[in-house]
Amino acid sequence: MAGLFISFEGIDGAGKSTHIDALAQVFATQGRVVTMTREPGGTPLAEKLRALVLNDTMDAMTEALLVFAARRDHLQQVIEPALARGEVVLCDRFTDATFAYQGGGRGFDLGILTYLERMVQTTKGLDGNFVRQPDLTLWFELAPEIAAQRLASARVPDKFEAQPVDFFKCVSDGYLRRVQADPSRFARLAAAQAREAVWAEVLQAVRQKGWLT
Ligand code: TMP
Repeated sequence: MAGLFISFEGIDGAGKSTHIDALAQVFATQGRVVTMTREPGGTPLAEKLRALVLNDTMDAMTEALLVFAARRDHLQQVIEPALARGEVVLCDRFTDATFAYQGGGRGFDLGILTYLERMVQTTKGLDGNFVRQPDLTLWFELAPEIAAQRLASARVPDKFEAQPVDFFKCVSDGYLRRVQADPSRFARLAAAQAREAVWAEVLQAVRQKGWLT
């Protein structure tokens, strides 16, 4: 069976996490082996980089370089081997988050991000090298004002969660640019709805791809 790579994206507070667990269960009941992972993170080295990125103050270029360093290790150690074994990889955030947060939110150069993306994600395929991307990206789309209300009653915020609403408007614009550049890879989910309604959209997006019986 061919490997499947599905990423989950959205601004902080968009509510993607519970759906990652639920989708993993659905694939498992269909007999698929599922690897659940996250970015930044997913390997011991990348988790160390995650702690730096989420807690330490640094400029946008440093942030971008660290998330791509973490991604390189994650791809090599976890994602590519799992896909080669035919597993389903469910990844809580991937490169779209870099374009949204470092590109949109922090205003870092999109050309440099594009260059790093190509460098870090190039992998060997049967027909030569290609740039690894998720087969499907579920974008949990939510107004930053609503996300801020949700976060206010949640856990102690990390560096990004503590940002003002205007930052998340820029992050959302960053996501939107990624969707517009490659619409067929994305499913846009209306994340302001009740959890069950969002879940129905998740299932529909995956079914439409023919990956669930
Ligand atoms: P999360 O695991 O709670 O979603 O937190 C990860 C945070 O890191 C989130 O605020 C988004 C941010 N982030 C970036 O800034 N750049 C990236 O490339 C990734 C993957 C995440």
